[in-house]
Amino acid sequence: MPAKGALVAVTADVVVAGGGVIGTAIAWRAAAAGLDVVLVDPEHGDAASLVAAGMLAPASEALFGEGALLRINLLALARFGSFAAELEEVTGRPAGLRREGTLAVAYDPGDYAALIRLTAFRRSAGLDAEELDSRACRKLESFLTPDVHGGVLFAGDWSVDNRRYAAALREAAAAAGVRTVRDRVTEVLVHDGRARGVAVADGGTIGSAQIVVAAGCWSGEVAGLPAGLRDVVRPVKGQLLRLRHPDGMPPVLAHTLRATVRGADVYLVPRADGEVIVGATQEERGPDRTVTAGAVHDLLHDAMSVLPVISELILAETCAGLRPGTPDNGPVVGGTGIGGLVLATGHYRNGILMSPVTADAIVACLTGQPPAAEWAPFTPERFAAGAQAR
Ligand code: FAD
Ligand code: GLY
Repeated sequence: MPAKGALVAVTADVVVAGGGVIGTAIAWRAAAAGLDVVLVDPEHGDAASLVAAGMLAPASEALFGEGALLRINLLALARFGSFAAELEEVTGRPAGLRREGTLAVAYDPGDYAALIRLTAFRRSAGLDAEELDSRACRKLESFLTPDVHGGVLFAGDWSVDNRRYAAALREAAAAAGVRTVRDRVTEVLVHDGRARGVAVADGGTIGSAQIVVAAGCWSGEVAGLPAGLRDVVRPVKGQLLRLRHPDGMPPVLAHTLRATVRGADVYLVPRADGEVIVGATQEERGPDRTVTAGAVHDLLHDAMSVLPVISELILAETCAGLRPGTPDNGPVVGGTGIGGLVLATGHYRNGILMSPVTADAIVACLTGQPPAAEWAPFTPERFAAGAQAR
């Protein structure tokens, strides 16, 4: 085994640690910009990117007090269409982008009052939101229960088939010349305040002056990150179901449907191939990825309360993934204070949506350009040791 810091065998302009949608989008765009890129990922299928629902939903996920996050999510949505079009052109694969919009519905009067309060905030932030009574909701989605109290249409919120999208990203990266190493980065090797490469679990090293750590909720496990950045990302568990229409059954849903049912949130995301995603829990359970009977029950119960017809769909898959959460719910994107070491993580509930703009920002960083102004609140600096508490 080579001594630490003795950089041998493989070298590259850039090493990307992590092959979820964030790392793979970065690798593709960096290679397309002319850089020689090595992507390192153990590929155990653990990535949150393969579990996610694929909603591209800046408006219907906007929450009180998250204005900066809303601005980056809006930038992300504005970029997604052209990014997906280029991806489809390069690979010849559909990414499964759907532009039908998102209908948020409320089950009872209390749920409706909460939805209307949130809608007032979202409108005050300049977002489009059309209030609809129960009948108008059912005009849009004929299988909705008449019990639904009312809803709001967020026509600008889209979705993408995240598994198809991730597969297309991998193909585009390979076509652009990205070399993939099936391994785990254990450490970023640093000399004289500059990154020089990475060590991988099999004992080898990869020499590179630029390292991007994009390992989702596992990013903090990579040794060599500066103090303050090691504990920034935590796993936030999400359990989710994949339903499928039986052969010959017409689609039961056209829009993404978000519902509040007696205070509990559930979403249903239709795919062109007949899949319907039902999600998701949000749980602070560390790295646990088990699927529980209670979560499957609750998700199905709440989803069937608003769209009873889904009881006829096939329960094709149950799964759980780990969102990379951060203390302020914002991503962590940019330089770390160690020369050449860059972070791209912490995308929490919106990593699919933010993958194109994250790739743009990181490629800007790698090529000495400024990233878009919307990234300013999301630099790693805000968590670095000694940074002021926010
Ligand atoms: P991941 O996809 O987790 O990938 C990290 C990769 O790093 C993995 O492939 C792993 O193998 C690799 N890795 C780990 N350690 C190392 C190492 N040491 N060296 C090298 N590689 C390593 N987002 C949306 O935009 N819309 C949604 O609708 C949505 N729904 C979601 C629903 C659920 C249930 C969940 C769990 C998430 C959802 N998300 C959604 C969030 C989204 O999935 C994440 O923000 C996004 O996938 C994060 O991507 P990532 O590439 O950073 O991490
Ligand atoms: N953005 C949806 C989720 O994280 O569940």
